[in-house]
Amino acid sequence: EKGGYEHFMLKEIYEQPNAITDTYRGRMLVNEGIIRMAGVDDNIERISKAKRILIVACGTSWHAGLVAEYIFEDLARIPVEVEYASEFRYRNPVINENDVVIAISQSGETADTMAAIKLAKEKGAFVFGVCNVVGSSISRETHAGAYTHAGPEIGVASTKAFTTQITVLTLMALKLAKHRGTISDTDFRHHLQQLEAIPAKIAKVLETTNEHIKDIAFKYKEATNCLYLGRGYNFPVALEGALKLKEISYIHAEGYPAAEMKHGPIALIDEQMPVVVIATKMGHYDKVVSNIQEIKSRKGKIIGIVTEGDEEVRDIADYVIEIPDTIESLTPLLTTIPMQLLSYHIAVMLGKNVDQPRNLAKSVTVE
Ligand code: F6R
Repeated sequence: EKGGYEHFMLKEIYEQPNAITDTYRGRMLVNEGIIRMAGVDDNIERISKAKRILIVACGTSWHAGLVAEYIFEDLARIPVEVEYASEFRYRNPVINENDVVIAISQSGETADTMAAIKLAKEKGAFVFGVCNVVGSSISRETHAGAYTHAGPEIGVASTKAFTTQITVLTLMALKLAKHRGTISDTDFRHHLQQLEAIPAKIAKVLETTNEHIKDIAFKYKEATNCLYLGRGYNFPVALEGALKLKEISYIHAEGYPAAEMKHGPIALIDEQMPVVVIATKMGHYDKVVSNIQEIKSRKGKIIGIVTEGDEEVRDIADYVIEIPDTIESLTPLLTTIPMQLLSYHIAVMLGKNVDQPRNLAKSVTVE
């Protein structure tokens, strides 16, 4: 049932090219320049006229929500707020009929996310669900939705659910952008073509980086702390990278927007500290390079996730992991992959129970 893989997590990491293809299959018609999503099409006026979009979720799904915030604001020009469902439900939020709430949940059973949806509905908001498990409680409680179609995710650490959530949310943002006239036809088509190319690029990352990442994992597996840095679209990916390492290897890790380093975390840097930095060519590259230099001069160990052919980061980093080029908004789908593999290999080398980490459950049905 693990299809020849040692763990479900590894199988699910490797399933991502197919999972993402399943997510956009039948929805994205690249040649025609059309995106079809019944849940969005049927409610297009309501959703595209939203005064703002509120995204509620927990854990990894919350990180997908943060990526979506960048995508929706960038493409569709609708203001977005992303909230932990557990905080949203208890803080008497200001919310009304002009708001659209997007609830993201792999399992569709998370208690806090469910409670947030009920509250939003009571206040008159339109609630859209992005779930993986078909027929789950959250998918039934929402007004409309779109499934991720990632297939069953068994490993407790979420992997393919995350990348397929980002895929669904990207399709939705593109669709709204088109309807609202905030994207040109050329740009819209360009996005579709680039998204269509992502599964093959993920397959390439898996093929070309896995062995190299094992070496990196071996080198840093005894670390007691690790930092993850990224900017823009890749800031949430840094948070997700840190969460993956924490939950399966039990190594303490934190994700930060790279520029926040100098406001505190830089004090932690010494020769013992591995720092994973997402430094792709798209988006704030020069700024990230100067952040890397700051870490280097404090003797931190740098693992750079870079665009193919990069030389500048390669010169200063201890290790680099290359990913293929794509448009900025889609880089999270590629930069996430090496981070999943790094956590996986470290956890395996440390002899941890990768698929069922201590203290964690696949769906959190109590608050
Ligand atoms: C992390 C992880 C959790 C879940 C969170 C939300 O790898 O699995 O953080 O992402 O419990 O779960 P869902 O998406 O099922 O609502």
